[in-house]
Amino acid sequence: MSTELRTVEWNDGAVRLIDQTRLPHEEIYLDIRDTSVLIDAIARLAVRGAPAIGVAGAYGVVLAAEPRPGEDAAAHLARVDSECRALADARPTAVNLAWAVDRTWSFAKSGGSPEERKVRALEEAERIREEDLELSRRMAEHGLSVLPDPARVVTHCNTGGLATAGGGTALGVVLAGARLGRKFYVHVDETRPLLQGARLNSWELQRAGVPYVVQCDGAAAFALSRFPFDAALVGADRIAANGDTANKIGTYALALAAKAHGVPFYVVAPRSSFDLSIGSGEEIPIEERIADEVRMFRGAASTPTDAPVYNPAFDVTPAHLIEGWITERGVERPPFAP
Ligand code: MRU
Repeated sequence: MSTELRTVEWNDGAVRLIDQTRLPHEEIYLDIRDTSVLIDAIARLAVRGAPAIGVAGAYGVVLAAEPRPGEDAAAHLARVDSECRALADARPTAVNLAWAVDRTWSFAKSGGSPEERKVRALEEAERIREEDLELSRRMAEHGLSVLPDPARVVTHCNTGGLATAGGGTALGVVLAGARLGRKFYVHVDETRPLLQGARLNSWELQRAGVPYVVQCDGAAAFALSRFPFDAALVGADRIAANGDTANKIGTYALALAAKAHGVPFYVVAPRSSFDLSIGSGEEIPIEERIADEVRMFRGAASTPTDAPVYNPAFDVTPAHLIEGWITERGVERPPFAP
């Protein structure tokens, strides 16, 4: 059975998404026909993961480009421009979102009429989705080349099919390897506070029949001291020119622990997650999310109701802790080729 997912796609005039807030217990798909509903879905993580929100954003441009009754070409251009800006700003850290929205709208807006622009937007969004599936396949090939068989790996946050159009980045390496018959044992960091690891990696690994264990984020360093790991594999939301890498909060702690135990720490990410316009991680905008994500889980309070909270959704791992950046081009290191 293919384990590739259909995380985001265009279906009969709508963006179809698997609702990741409902996993692992319910597999529900949302058909979204309105840009503001899509922005909300991105913001509340119904679709999440850097490449997946890029693909969703590209389809969002198609929704925005739908001509309105009585709208002439100039009014259409101005309105879609402003909806594209709102889409690109739905989440600030993953550069893929703004990249995919800009790419789709830049291609579409050269169409002379609103109808033509919508057709062109759909063409480009479909291309971005297809390319994303192909990039996952290539990253997996390069990722497998640095791992032994069997391999024990640790991972943080969800970077499988759910975080992309369907293939995956870091977890995609494991899933593709398993399809080829390679053996893995995966330590899944639960990934507080929203449990992308515990909820989503477990779901994906179970479907694929790959053995795994879920551990609290705080157990990772101890596990690294007790078990013979071959690698730590994580994804990325934005990679600066010097290699500093933003990824889900907790990635930096895992990288420090991996370094302390001599375990190679790899970032697996497509080139669309690189932002070579910024010199270092200091310039990466870090999303801070609402306090209630930390104060409570699924409606049950875990702190006093007004406890002050610090809730950065991402951190930045300094380049010197990273062994290599596995992209569709191979295993890269800074200075990165353009
Ligand atoms: O807040 P999320 O769930 O969108 O964060 C996702 C991550 O941090 C992933 O590790 C990253 O986007 C790489 S996904 C292939």
